[in-house]
Amino acid sequence: MNKSIEQIRTEALEEIEKAGDTEQIKAVSVRYIGRKGIVTQYLRDIAALPASQRPEAGKKANQTKKAIEKAVEKALSKLALSAKDAADAIDVSLPGRVSPRGSLHPVTRITKRICHIFERMGFDIAEGPEVETDYYNFEALNIPKNHPARDMQDTFYISENIVLRTHTSPIQVRFMEASTPPIRIVAPGKVYRCDSDLTHTPMFHQVEGLLVDENVSFGDLKGLLTLFVQQMFDEETGLRFRPSFFPFTEPSAEVDIQCVMCRGEGCKVCSGTGWLEVMGCGMVHPAVFENVGYDTSTYSGFAFGMGVERIAMLKYGINDLRMFFESDIRFLRQL
Ligand code: PHE
Repeated sequence: MNKSIEQIRTEALEEIEKAGDTEQIKAVSVRYIGRKGIVTQYLRDIAALPASQRPEAGKKANQTKKAIEKAVEKALSKLALSAKDAADAIDVSLPGRVSPRGSLHPVTRITKRICHIFERMGFDIAEGPEVETDYYNFEALNIPKNHPARDMQDTFYISENIVLRTHTSPIQVRFMEASTPPIRIVAPGKVYRCDSDLTHTPMFHQVEGLLVDENVSFGDLKGLLTLFVQQMFDEETGLRFRPSFFPFTEPSAEVDIQCVMCRGEGCKVCSGTGWLEVMGCGMVHPAVFENVGYDTSTYSGFAFGMGVERIAMLKYGINDLRMFFESDIRFLRQL
């Protein structure tokens, strides 16, 4: 016993104070009050002391042992507490977690924009079913049974008389059946054709337009579509009407706009022609009016239909239509 019990006690308490983690505290505890610890050994050695000194020495040693036990316990619980505090703590200086915000798909955006331009000119929005009857998709639109548009390769047939609509034109018929002129509507929606390559997908979007009133002329149609093209693209964009054929319009035309990439010079996008086809249109065929019970001597009208993806491709400069439907967030974010 070369160190006094007081000295041992002071050193032990100091070491506990300095110990930085649970391991260290436990080690100090073992060293002093473990089975072979310094204090334990000290207590054993008391037996060898003269009887007169034993009570006093024993008391002091036991007090020291208790003090060390207490200090160890306290240090351990302090550590546990501060660990809990750290886990619970809120670091108010950290930047907040921003949850990603969704946005409209480019096809939806372009659809809305097209509709909005016509809404400002007094058109209403109409809709119709995507699963259509043969009557509305074809028959009522003056498309006879042997017309190529009915070909099995183009049309998805659900059954002999039910199809996935191949265009938005059946909405014209449904709307006219349910109302009386004057009519001014645009009808956006999905359409389906059995076709798939760089510029065709089995499902795509169209916006249909229909205006019926007294004394509607082809000039009105030209004026309206010119305004539309200028607002959709820009004031400088030229357009032309090319004679064409649709069973439900007569006369019919295809609308070309000046190539948005080369401004009419001729490039890859417009195959060197300087022009891009953007929609079909024409004066409503009398047969269609008769099918919906309109008096063809009083009413005339025009209709047009455009592919939304086609317009989106031109606006965003995209050459593969399929990109729109791959849902690749990196592509969609760019637009
Ligand atoms: N429905 C035609 C198509 O899908 C487009 C069109 C609509 C043409 C209205 C003339 C009038 O190609």
